[in-house]
Amino acid sequence: MTDTAAWAENTARRILKASLPRRWAHTQQVAAAARTLAPVLGRDADLVTAAAWLHDIGYAPALGGTGFHPLDGARHLRDTEHAAGILCRLVAHHSCAQIEAEERGIGADLVREFHPAPPALADAVIYCDMTTGPDGQRLPVEQRLAEILARYGPSDLVSRSITRSAPLLTAAVTRVTQQLDPAAPAPGRHPEGRALVLAAAV
Ligand SMILES: [Fe+2]
Repeated sequence: MTDTAAWAENTARRILKASLPRRWAHTQQVAAAARTLAPVLGRDADLVTAAAWLHDIGYAPALGGTGFHPLDGARHLRDTEHAAGILCRLVAHHSCAQIEAEERGIGADLVREFHPAPPALADAVIYCDMTTGPDGQRLPVEQRLAEILARYGPSDLVSRSITRSAPLLTAAVTRVTQQLDPAAPAPGRHPEGRALVLAAAV
């Protein structure tokens, strides 16, 4: 582990471990998933691992803010931790946050403050977050999406957002899975995943 990921781990532990132990359990395994991507990420592995450690710090009550955790986390990293811009962008836009920002009516604010992250890096963070459950268990992206919908309920803004995001999130996970294992199924060959998400949303 290099310096940025080590710093990110310590920062996330300080912010999440005591106040949100379940988020901390999730975060630790999202970071573990990021470390498995080192063979395909090369020199970006440290950055993606750092983003994995930090992606959910915006949930911490102590950070305050808008109540939209990608934006609150990224602002904290930028304004208080003085993190690198690319790291703030990865946190601000993690797991298709732009779509939920639009649902909240703050899509323009998010993209004005934080430029979207490079697609390959955004895919990597999606893979880590969307294959890790709320208690840190590894699970397929389709089950992860269904779990989010079940946890928030069908009428919640988060559920509307994740239903819009589902095809993008699933495609990103598939792309990364194929990078790790070229024999994995191609994007678009998981119609059952989409059906599972929509079935859970109603
Ligand atoms: Fe997460």
